[in-house]
Amino acid sequence: MNQTKNKVTRVLAVETSCDDTSVAIVESSGQVLTMVSAHQDLEHAPYGGIVPEIASRNHSLSLLPLIQHCLDKAGLSWSDIQGLAVTNRPGLIGSLIVGIMTLKSISQAYGIPLIGVNHLEGHLLAPFLKDESYLPPADFNYPYIALAVSGGHTSLYWVKGFSDYVVIGSTKDDAAGEAFDKFAKMVGLGYPGGVQVDQCAKLGDKNKFQFPRSLILEDNLMMSFSGLKSAAHRLLEKMPKEQIDSDRNNLCASFQEAIVDVLVSKTLKAAGRYSCNRLVITGGVSANSRLREKFSELLPNYQIVCPPIRYCTDNAAMIGYAGLLRLNRGESNDLLLGPSSQLYEKDFSYDLQ
Ligand code: KG4
Ligand code: ZN
Repeated sequence: MNQTKNKVTRVLAVETSCDDTSVAIVESSGQVLTMVSAHQDLEHAPYGGIVPEIASRNHSLSLLPLIQHCLDKAGLSWSDIQGLAVTNRPGLIGSLIVGIMTLKSISQAYGIPLIGVNHLEGHLLAPFLKDESYLPPADFNYPYIALAVSGGHTSLYWVKGFSDYVVIGSTKDDAAGEAFDKFAKMVGLGYPGGVQVDQCAKLGDKNKFQFPRSLILEDNLMMSFSGLKSAAHRLLEKMPKEQIDSDRNNLCASFQEAIVDVLVSKTLKAAGRYSCNRLVITGGVSANSRLREKFSELLPNYQIVCPPIRYCTDNAAMIGYAGLLRLNRGESNDLLLGPSSQLYEKDFSYDLQ
């Protein structure tokens, strides 16, 4: 890890850990000047999930044009950028490599310091981002409990301060978003399924079918969604296709309610355990309307901060903010920066009881 000397006030950041290609320019206040992203849902939809090789190929096609577009949109050039931030862990290796190699080259060409960022740290710091249409609550600050819930991760964190993160709970198997996506496929909805289940659920009866809430009664912060997925599979196997069609909205509402119950209950358990009433909900599944509704019912006893969806799903702004704070602590990476598919243990401490 190298040391950077000058204060960094503006970074250009790249996120390519999964299937979204995103580029942002972020300032030290958390202000996002511009963010441009390319999504690949249509390319992966025929396969019902993300195909890693297709993801990296698309990143390699989109990334440089997006970087140029981002600079142009902000009216800036490389001389206005004092730092580069790139997600280098965890993620799909081929996808990460595209972002890392591109920013290493730019760093070399223009002499701009580079930092590799843990994707999960980005999600945890997303509530500090702001732009012309979003400001976090004026009194928002550390510490907080964060629920990061997406297609790849579902974990609870005790965020004590910048760079001081404790993993306090996690799914033992599938991520909640993965369960949403697989269930969507089972009931004949397309990919990605979470948002479609959400839409159908609005028209359905959440009490029509009973799905398990695994581990909900256990006095810990662990979660599990694979039993729920199997229960859905067993139920649907017995139902004629016509009944699945006519009950689709009820099935979606009941399935969604089971996931939301677990997520809300474990987050509240975490809040009690750490005596903290400030809750941050982030990650793609935080777009779920029922999840947002259930958390909003906790007001005013809790402060609930759920960043806008553009900063909850995978995005470069959150990576830029995390990278900027790290560069200003004197950290930077050299050409040895590489990708990792593992959650780096050293980025977090653990209190999994
Ligand atoms: O954070 P994200 O964009 O990418 C990663 O997985 O890291 O999250 C995508 C996940 C997918 O599983 C998608 O189905 C789910 O978030 N998702 C939703 C909703 N919108 C996106 N799940 C439930 N309800 C939604 N409205
Ligand atoms: Zn993510």
